[in-house]
Amino acid sequence: MNTNEIRVFCPATIANISCGFDVLGVALASVGDEMVVRKVTEEGIRITKLEGQDLPMETLENVAGVAGLAFLEKSDYQGGFEIEIYKKIKAGSGIGSSAASSTGAVWGMNELLGKPFSTLQLIKFAMEGERLASGVAHADNVAPALFGGFTLVRSYDPLDVVTIHSPAELYATVIHPQIEIKTSDSRKILKTNITLQDGIKQWGNVGGLVAGLFKEDYDLIGRSLVDHIIEPVRSILIPGFDEVKAAAIEAGALGCGISGSGPSIFAFSKGPEIANKVAAAMKEVYEKIGLDYDIHVSKINIEGVREGR
Ligand code: HSE
Repeated sequence: MNTNEIRVFCPATIANISCGFDVLGVALASVGDEMVVRKVTEEGIRITKLEGQDLPMETLENVAGVAGLAFLEKSDYQGGFEIEIYKKIKAGSGIGSSAASSTGAVWGMNELLGKPFSTLQLIKFAMEGERLASGVAHADNVAPALFGGFTLVRSYDPLDVVTIHSPAELYATVIHPQIEIKTSDSRKILKTNITLQDGIKQWGNVGGLVAGLFKEDYDLIGRSLVDHIIEPVRSILIPGFDEVKAAAIEAGALGCGISGSGPSIFAFSKGPEIANKVAAAMKEVYEKIGLDYDIHVSKINIEGVREGR
């Protein structure tokens, strides 16, 4: 075994989950980035290969590079790392593409050095990659990518991340209309103030969703998948959003909303059969509109980032 090198699989994630803007996220089992992280004597971070997407390889312009540098800055390690990135998640798709690369890089580095850092500390390093990608160091994609399952960022200062039970029969259907929305752009259009009335509705749903997940109460999960604040603003950027959502609910989904900052749309269902019906209904909408799409039906990934492919 080569102890200087590790192959990493880091899952895609759905952030926000309708009601939990910047605080809730969940990892997907069916898709993720692959990377190889290698310990080298030369100091610093170098991205030596990047396949699957047209993204910058310069360390300071690459999310994995920036997250890796944040790691090195706090580490006693004298050498450096080379990183090969095999992107399976499309950039700007709304399922945590930048988070998967940032998280995979720092997790692999930590493994190769004998785990000097805690998972919480790794989240902080990976958040620097998110800062590069979106202008804001949000943790709602990197936390589930690291821990697996559902996570709640209870607080950003100090950072406090809570892992949440994943009901066994919960499936996600995620459709990605083939347009790209940059998280930085879709954050700029958000209002910076909310009304007390919207706040009351929103935190009721966050509490309801977390309780529903722990209790495996699928109806409560469904009732809580409502977003009064972000979705009304961002959904206008996503072609056919209202139709896709209506079709998903009609086909039996518990709930449906924007995945992260979009344009992907996610739906949760109880069991794979309904999740596949939901996929068919969502596809039909884009076929009618004539828009290309990718679609995934996925179990929840409860393991998070791991060694392997
Ligand atoms: N919470 C972030 C946002 C997630 O919605 O901007 C981006 O994937």
